[in-house]
Order: sequence, then C-alpha cells, then structure tokens
Amino acid sequence: METQMMQNRNGKINIVLNDKKEVKTAKRSSEHSMKNSPFMKIDQELSSFVAMEELKTTIKEIYATMMMNAKRKQAGLKDTRQVLHMLFRGNPGTGKTTVARKLAKIYFEMNLLSKGHFIEVERADLVGEYIGQTAQKTRAMVQKAMGGILFIDEAYSLARGGEKDFGKEAIDTLVKHMEDNHNDFVLILAGYPNEMDRFLSLNPGLKSRFPFILDFDDYSVSHLMEIARQMAAEREYKLSREAEWELRSQLLRTTALTVRNFANARYVRNVIETAIRKHAVRLLGKEDATPAELMELSLEDVQAEGS
Ligand SMILES: Nc1ncnc2c1ncn2[C@@H]1O[C@H](COP(=O)(O)OP(=O)(O)O)[C@@H](O)[C@H]1O
Ligand SMILES: [Mg+2]
Repeated sequence: METQMMQNRNGKINIVLNDKKEVKTAKRSSEHSMKNSPFMKIDQELSSFVAMEELKTTIKEIYATMMMNAKRKQAGLKDTRQVLHMLFRGNPGTGKTTVARKLAKIYFEMNLLSKGHFIEVERADLVGEYIGQTAQKTRAMVQKAMGGILFIDEAYSLARGGEKDFGKEAIDTLVKHMEDNHNDFVLILAGYPNEMDRFLSLNPGLKSRFPFILDFDDYSVSHLMEIARQMAAEREYKLSREAEWELRSQLLRTTALTVRNFANARYVRNVIETAIRKHAVRLLGKEDATPAELMELSLEDVQAEGS
C-alpha cells in the first residue's frame, strides 16, 4: 500500500479511489492484506454507520491527505494544514449529531485534534442579551471546544433576527476563530438542507470557509431496515421474520406519507426501544423463556399503538 501511495503522487482523489478498490479486493483475498489497509481503522470506526458513502470517502481523503502531508514534510516538501470545518445538511434523524461526535474521536486518533472532545451548542449558548455579551459567550464556547469539535445544530437560528440581531455577532466571532485556530479546532454547522442553504446565501463568504459540505440524505426503506437490524443486534436482540415484515410495511407507509418531519433512523430507534420494552412486559411472567425467546422481538412488539 505504501508503494501504491507513492506511485500516485499526483492527487489525493486518485489515491483514495485506488485504495477503495484495494480495500474491496483485499477483503476478498486475504485477512493479511486487509490488516495492511491504511484505512482499516477508519473502516472500523465508521462500520456502525449504514450507507453514508460520501462521508466515508471524505474521511479517507482527509486521512490520506494527512499522511501524505507527513511524507511530503519528511521529503522537504511543503505541507499544507487541512482546514476541516464542515457543514452538514440533512433532515432529522439522518445521523448528523452521531457522525459529528464520532469525527471528534476519529480526528483525535488521527492526531488532527489534541483532545477530541465534542461540544454541542445551540443559539442560546452563543447569543447574549446585550451588546458585547454575544462575542464573549461565543468566544468562551470556542475556548471550551479548543482541541475538539464545536457542533452547532440548527445553525441558521443564529441568523434569525436579521442584521440587528446579536446572532450576527456570534457568526462574526465564530468566523474570526475559525481562521485563528484552524489548527486545533473544528467547527461543524448542521441543519435542515433548505434552511442551511438560505443561511449561507444570507451570509456570503461563510460557505467558502467550509471546505466540506456533506449531505445527509433521507434513508431508503431498505437502509432503515438495515439500521433496525443493526440496532437490535447491538443490544443482542433480533427481529422475527414477521416483525421485520411489519416494520418494513410501517416504514413504507410512513415514508410515503411524511414528507418533511419523518425522523429517519431516529424513528427506527424509537421502534426498537419501544419493542424492547413491550418484549420485556410480554415475557416477564414467562418463567421458562428460552434464550432465543429472550432475544426475539416479535410482530406484536413492533406493532404501532392502535394498529
Ligand atoms: N447510517 C446510520 N447507521 C446507523 N445508525 C444511524 C445512522 N444514521 C443515524 N443513525 C442513528 O439514528 C439516531 C439519530 O441520529 P442523529 O445523529 O441524532 O440524527 P440527527 O442529528 O441528524 O437528527 C441515532 O441513534 C443514530 O445512531
Ligand atoms: Mg441532531
């Protein structure tokens, strides 16, 4: 893999694409070459996320660039620090917060962040009530996030009141720190796609400071089913065949009906967690429940109330 990377000096994309193929064939050919994949650790960290191909590719590019920078530095070539600030566009339950939290850990392991902690804030944490207070509050949050990730959900709420609103002061302060501290601080702004786009159009110059804009698409029913299976398995449960059918038809109905407020993977998590409670009640009085029964979520466990 080392020589592979050296041969592809010209561009990082090229390296990544080659590596992607490499990883796939390595998986099939032998355990040994798999262990040598430079992306093994990243694949492991991101394996809990169903789909999200764009994210996975991006993180590998970042890793490859970082490694390449180190090699180039050794060879006496210019090493350019990567700016890692990101924008996440996606509906609720598409994994934005979970991914941001995971990135803090991954960047720490890659040595891109010194602490790797994760701080989630909202408008009220940044915006004050009088002149000067906002800059101070925002600066304090940035300080707290130093060495880690500062995550601002519903970032457009900062632009709520237009020009006179103190939110503008928060944005300006953030922008200032993004430039000052881009070596050991990552800012991630997240929110609904349309609102994020509007927010960016109202704040020209902001978009260009975020080299990574990731779209978190709504999940297909089959991805949601995969997420459901995985969530059950993580808790050592399993959906019965009937339960899977029931959940799939629920998802088909719900995704067809709800355009905007469908909670995607969070909906699935709620179903699984509710099912686990129903299963507990159902089996509590059953003294001789087998291990298989203790694991299996049945049709009635996943059925929605009143259906
Ligand atoms: N691709 C995925 N694979 C597995 N679980 C996921 C995926 N996307 C989201 N989830 C799960 O769905 C739930 C909601 O995700 P969250 O990050 O809170 O979404 P958002 O911040 O976009 O509203 C979490 O439990 C998360 O682990
Ligand atoms: Mg969230």
